Order: sequence, then structure tokens, then C-alpha cells
Amino acid sequence: MRILILGGDGYLGWAQSLYLSSKGHDIFIFDNLMRRHFDLEHNFSSLLPIATLQERVKAWKEVSGRQIQFRIGDTTDYEAIAAVFREFQPEAVVHFAEQRSAPYSMIDRKHAVFTQVNNVVGTLNVLYAIKEFTPACHLVKLGTMGEYGTPNIDIEEGFIEIHHKGRSDILPYPKQPNSFYHLSKVHDSHNIMFCCKIWGIRSTDLNQGIVYGFETDETVLDPRLATRMDYDQVYGTALNRFCIQASVDYPLTVYGQGQQTRGYINLRDAIRCIELAIASPAQEGEYRVFNQMTEQFSLLELAEMVVKQAQEVGLHARMVHVANPRVEAEEHYYNAAHTRLIDLGLEPHLLSGSVLQSLINLAITQREHIDPELIVPTVNWRTTKNEVVHTNDGVSE
Ligand SMILES: NC(=O)c1ccc[n+]([C@@H]2O[C@H](COP(=O)([O-])OP(=O)(O)OC[C@H]3O[C@@H](n4cnc5c(N)ncnc54)[C@H](O)[C@@H]3O)[C@@H](O)[C@H]2O)c1
Repeated sequence: MRILILGGDGYLGWAQSLYLSSKGHDIFIFDNLMRRHFDLEHNFSSLLPIATLQERVKAWKEVSGRQIQFRIGDTTDYEAIAAVFREFQPEAVVHFAEQRSAPYSMIDRKHAVFTQVNNVVGTLNVLYAIKEFTPACHLVKLGTMGEYGTPNIDIEEGFIEIHHKGRSDILPYPKQPNSFYHLSKVHDSHNIMFCCKIWGIRSTDLNQGIVYGFETDETVLDPRLATRMDYDQVYGTALNRFCIQASVDYPLTVYGQGQQTRGYINLRDAIRCIELAIASPAQEGEYRVFNQMTEQFSLLELAEMVVKQAQEVGLHARMVHVANPRVEAEEHYYNAAHTRLIDLGLEPHLLSGSVLQSLINLAITQREHIDPELIVPTVNWRTTKNEVVHTNDGVSE
């Protein structure tokens, strides 16, 4: 199939592009390289060095003999994105191209506005381009489990049957997100559902859990094919960050009480899910939602598992509770349905001691590049004038 990967230079998009290319699909990457710019803005960097997009694509050609096309462009620029749809005529588009950090969106007004304009306008342009140039194209859009928040009832896959005053209906599941970033995903979901209804677009909205892992069968073939490995307070995600913190004997930073429970998924499963969604596309006019996660854990459970594995390889791992910079429930009910991708054939790689061990070992190989100053959370949800402060204070136990 001809598959357009929006955001194909990012952590997930690059791994996804290689995987689908290895399966024989014709891949076109569209990315504005903004994620690399964020690194420059805040002095962050991927722990595993990443090659330029040009070098990556060249390396893939050398290693696999397969060509990946790419273009540098911005989804908020309609002419640029429209040209790709017109010329490439994708049969499926996987849309990763958004500002994806909750802390980034909470730095201040400017970063909140940027996040929502980038994400919401970009997705709206993609919807218009599909309508105008490739109306049969299947949109596979990355949403997040964070759209739902933490309701005190089970979370369903996108929709819930409501009985009210003697009548009933199946309605979109209520959304109670916890950041301006997560809110941008909710706005996207509404726009996509509306366009499916009015124009007959076919779409799968993937409410993805937090992804962990850095390696796939393709990224390990050559160092130039590595995908991002982020550990800083803005872009690092929970389990990846814990493994990297453990590798340098830095106390694992558990925010608040640590009972915050979320859905998680291995990188290998995340890219397989998208292959499955593409292979069984939504029908014309259908807006469907899959919860793309395989397990759920509290922060404390994750930290305890990482500490145990790290101690087994002789590291002095321990955890510390730091003041929670986020506004979120720290003790709550959480039980999220996630059967639809299993029904399509997903065979999950669950989080085991050996998976954790390989993550910690990989982090150990890079540990001389870790800057502990970047680990400490300084973006606080309660203030409107945050700065991404670099501090030498570390965390106190
Ligand atoms: N990483 C996770 O754990 C996770 C969890 C849930 C959902 N998601 C979603 O998956 C998607 C990819 O996440 P990721 O971790 O790979 O993020 P990432 O930041 O590494 O990748 C996003 C890519 O999109 C590009 N991009 C951003 N805005 C763009 C625009 N306007 N035009 C063109 N390119 C643009 C960036 O340059 C970057 O290469 C995001 O939409 C994110 O919200 C990620």
C-alpha cells in the first residue's frame, strides 16, 4: 500500500516507517523536524544519537534495499500537505505529527497556544486534504489514553451506552483530560468524528497508552537507524525515564503518591497495532476508536519493578517521591478496556523482567551522555509563567 507517515522523523513515526517499509509498503514521510528544534530550544537531546532524516533514509536504503520518500513540511501549511496528498495519493495515512508533550503544553500561554494550533489546525488540514484529493484514504490518527482522564467507572473503547430518563444511546465516552496537550487530542477527535459523518471519511482514532522501549527489529540493524531515546522532564515518558534514571543511580522520580495508574504499551506492539489497523480499515464514513494499550500500572508499581531489576545488575537504584508538578488525582479507580486490537490479532509483548533488563542495559550503554539536570521536573501545572529550569539541586530523598 501507499502509506503516508506524518511525523515520520519522531520516536514512533521513524520506527513505524521502517517497520511498514520492511513489510513491502511504499512509505512517504512528511515531517517539519520540529521535534529536533524543541531539543535546541531547551537543550535536550536523544540519548541514543539520531542521524539526520536524510542520513536515516540513506542508511535504510543501504541496509534493506528499500526506498523511503520524504519531504520536510508542516501540516499547518495547507498547500504543503495538500501537495503530498495530490502527488502521492496515499491509501492510508498515519498521523503522528503533533506536539506531544503535556509538560511542554503547560510551560506558559505561548506553548499552550502553539500546541493547540499545531495539533488542531494540522489535523484539520489533513482532513481537508483527504476530502479533496484522496477521499477513500484511511486516516489512522494517534490520540492518547489521556483523553479520558481518570473517571470513577470503567473506560470503554471510545463509546459508551447511556440510559437516561427511559431512553438510551451509544455516545462518545466522556473526556476529562489533564493538560492543554491532551485537550488538543480531544479537539482532534471531535473534528475527525464530524468529518467522518459529513464527508464519509474513514478513520481509526488510536487512544494510545504510554509507549516504552527504544528498539525494533529494524532500528537495531544499523546505528544510523536508531529512534529517539528521551529522558528529560518534558519529553521523557514514565517507564523509559525510570530505566534511564536507574542506569545512572539517580533516584526514580515518582510524582506525588505514585498511585496514578495509566495504560502502557511496548514500542513493538505500538507499531504492530498500526499495521493491524491499516490491514482492516474503517468503513466509509466510519469513525472507530481503539484503546491502544496492553497493560496498566501505577507509577509506584513501575518504579518498584525497575528498582528490583536494576538492583539485580548491581545498580544502587531507589525511588523518591517528589512534589507532583501536575494537577491530577493521585489515588483513583482505573480500568480501561483494550480488546479491539487483540481481536484483530495483536499478540502483546508484556512487561517482564527481561524487557526491563534490556531497557536498563541499553540505558547503561549511553549513561555517560546523561545530564542529570534535565531529569528534575520544573514545569508546574499551577503556575502560568513556567520556565524549563535547569538545576543542579537534584532531588532530595
Ligand atoms: N510516545 C508516547 O508514549 C505516546 C503516547 C500516546 C500518544 N502518542 C502520540 O503519538 C504521536 C507520536 O509521538 P512521538 O512520541 O513519536 O512524538 P515525537 O515528538 O517524537 O514525534 C512527532 C513528530 O511529528 C513532527 N511534527 C510535529 N508537528 C508537526 C507539524 N505540524 N507538521 C509536521 N511534522 C510535525 C515532529 O517533528 C516529530 O518528528 C503523537 O501524536 C503523540 O501524541 C505518543
